[in-house]
Amino acid sequence: MRLHTAFLPLLLAFPLLVSAQTTAAKPHHKSVPTESAPILAATPPMGWNSWNFFAGKVTDKDIRNAADQMVATGMKDAGYVYINIDDTWEGDRNADGVLTSNAKFPDMKALADYVHSRGLKLGIYSGPGSKTCAGFNASLDHEVQDAQLYASWGIDYLKYDYCSFGWDMSKKSPTDETGQMRQMVDAYAKMGKALQQSGRPIVYSLCQYGMDAPWEWAPAIGGNLWRSTDDVQANWLSIYGIINQQAGLAKYAGPGHWNDPDMLEVGNGRLSLAENRTHFSMWALLAAPLLAGNDLPNMKPEIKAILTNKDVIAIDQDKLGREGTRAYVDGEVEVWTRHLSNGALAIAVLNAGRDRVANHPFHLNLTQLGLKGPEKGKNLWTGQDVTLTNNQPIEIKGHDILLVRIDSPK
Ligand code: GLA
Repeated sequence: MRLHTAFLPLLLAFPLLVSAQTTAAKPHHKSVPTESAPILAATPPMGWNSWNFFAGKVTDKDIRNAADQMVATGMKDAGYVYINIDDTWEGDRNADGVLTSNAKFPDMKALADYVHSRGLKLGIYSGPGSKTCAGFNASLDHEVQDAQLYASWGIDYLKYDYCSFGWDMSKKSPTDETGQMRQMVDAYAKMGKALQQSGRPIVYSLCQYGMDAPWEWAPAIGGNLWRSTDDVQANWLSIYGIINQQAGLAKYAGPGHWNDPDMLEVGNGRLSLAENRTHFSMWALLAAPLLAGNDLPNMKPEIKAILTNKDVIAIDQDKLGREGTRAYVDGEVEVWTRHLSNGALAIAVLNAGRDRVANHPFHLNLTQLGLKGPEKGKNLWTGQDVTLTNNQPIEIKGHDILLVRIDSPK
């Protein structure tokens, strides 16, 4: 079990809480929801979240602007739906325990109405502990009340962030590592149930950074997606590190339940265009939620072109819902594939090295992908038709990617 980095200072005082992480933990709590309604998050959720760009400064106005820009930039037409408010919207609880929003968000119901009037959906943020990661009020002991409040406002998506939970439990009911995991799963299950009973379909996004293998238990407690890593940052090391951590998780993803390698940093920090392209391509290959986190009103055309590339989005949103896997690695080049509806296949060739591939020129081995070749496809970043042949030399610059869709593989 580990705690989020925001609570690192506390770990010094409570070393018990940071003993070895259990990655092969088995689910101990099964309360599978009955699903007569249409499946929530049948494809990975697409939208925008306030944290990566605004962090604690986000206001009602920023959220309205984001909704406006989502429409004006064509992102809504490209499939983005959710406008998600992250941490720092929370105010005090009143005498009845009902949570209020703080001065930055004067009227949540009106905000939800506004976002809905733009044809979009509104997401919100809380956590199972007493405090969020930014130190605002979270949902501990108020789960049902909070879920009902969200439903009454018209909220469509909840990101539920672990933050202070381990710390709260260490004071409230100390236990061993197995007990800590049980406490955590129970807490996530409690909110899962509260959402299901709220009378409104609300996508449930678990955020506990991949502790205790959430892919094994989150679907059973109503989770639609679960973070599989610590926080993403707008730099190549973070993004490539996260890509690496996803290998092996594909079997847990499918319609209604997705691995979440965290939100997009496309357009943020100093990512090069190649890195932005690779980041977006790989999130699509991984059937990841596509939650943009950039400054929408000041989005550069080349960033908009990446975020609205319909061919790449179609890979992400493929109805089959099968997450891609790493087929093989050759030096610094990685080849990933994703099986798509109607027998189609996406192939990504990624140069993780600094510049031209070390084993230059790289030769694509179609046999290792189970293909005979030649294979006719489309390069999804140039839009051009391509034919891939076995052992064909391919030149890819550092941190860049070749993403090809083959509709009828041989
Ligand atoms: C954690 C989460 C982030 C963000 C912040 C908000 O770090 O992982 O995505 O929600 O909390 O405080």
